[in-house]
Amino acid sequence: MRFETEQIHAGVEPDAVTGAILTPIYQSTTYVQPSIADYMATGYSYSRSANPTVRALERKLAALEGGVDATAFASGMAAINAVFTAFLGAGSHAVVSDVAYGGTYRIATKVFGRFGVDFSFVDTSDPRAVREAARDETRLVFSETPANPTLKLTDIAAVSEVTRQLGVPHVVDNTFLTPYYQKPLELGADLTVHSTTKYLDGHNATIGGAVVAGTTAHDEMVRFVQNATGTIMSPLVAWLTLQGCKTLSVRMDRQSENALIIARFLEGHPKVARVSYPGLESFTQHALATSQATGFGAMIWFELAGGVEAGQTLMDALELWALAENLGSAESLVTHPVTMTHADIGESERERVGITDGLVRLSVGLEHVDDLIDDLTTALDKV
Ligand SMILES: Cc1ncc(COP(=O)(O)O)c(C=O)c1O
Repeated sequence: MRFETEQIHAGVEPDAVTGAILTPIYQSTTYVQPSIADYMATGYSYSRSANPTVRALERKLAALEGGVDATAFASGMAAINAVFTAFLGAGSHAVVSDVAYGGTYRIATKVFGRFGVDFSFVDTSDPRAVREAARDETRLVFSETPANPTLKLTDIAAVSEVTRQLGVPHVVDNTFLTPYYQKPLELGADLTVHSTTKYLDGHNATIGGAVVAGTTAHDEMVRFVQNATGTIMSPLVAWLTLQGCKTLSVRMDRQSENALIIARFLEGHPKVARVSYPGLESFTQHALATSQATGFGAMIWFELAGGVEAGQTLMDALELWALAENLGSAESLVTHPVTMTHADIGESERERVGITDGLVRLSVGLEHVDDLIDDLTTALDKV
């Protein structure tokens, strides 16, 4: 079946007792067992280990991404934590994209670093750099593409070829494009992670995460951590995310359409110095954006000719665009990564990878594009 049909029907069935078309919110801690001999006959024992509403979402995400199964978590960070915990231990090493969500950098350096795991933050847009950074102790390559916030791309197939030769898993953070636009497992990656908080929910309603595995062995490793560390998604969040998934393609298409119009508007504005959007021909990796994904997404960043001060004036002057963290929702948001999402990355490291003080990040939503442009125009006039 095609994606648009799967996003509605995969993983869910009418309730066996009532026929309810939506999978109910199974708000129950425990499950009564018929007998000792039939322990786990229903597949459920305790909701930290598995929950029927959460399982429905896990099955849906696995189907959409083309994995064998998925595990859902309390947040995107809990999903990343699970992957790191599953594959890394004292004395091991991992290669991580040098541009990635600030929380990924934080958990690597400030949590796993304390337990003797070493990380190299590498320009994964260059597969040779990944190979050169690998050591005997390397157990994982983790790339985020498009990367938050500069939108730098990693060639998933090329890096997957490197990791195949190294014999280590390649994990791709697919949050920005979702399986609707990008299928890392088909391109050779081994697992994907998602902040479902973003496009999969899409309504600014929940915090959640997921890991989709390409093999049962990898799924079991991650599922063990889900139970052992107690980081499973809650049934209510799973239920809301199930509803969000049903409109994913429609939302992403409209948001991306809006984003291209806005990126072109900004590119032609005299007060804007630089605009970055994978759908623009001026985007340095436009060819890769076109070949490895079927859409460009709805994230844009830009810098004003007036620099940092002008950027801050603009962000304060916007009215329809909310100054807020998060992305991928119906509401359009503007973010200043240096003070908000990437504050935990040191200044020199930020400068090195292009997360400049003047960078303004837009998450384009579902409002009428003319209203979004009107608000930008008014705010730009005040700069
Ligand atoms: C690309 C990416 N991955 C992971 C995360 C972490 O997700 P969460 O905020 O759901 O923990 C984020 C959050 O912004 C993100 O942008």
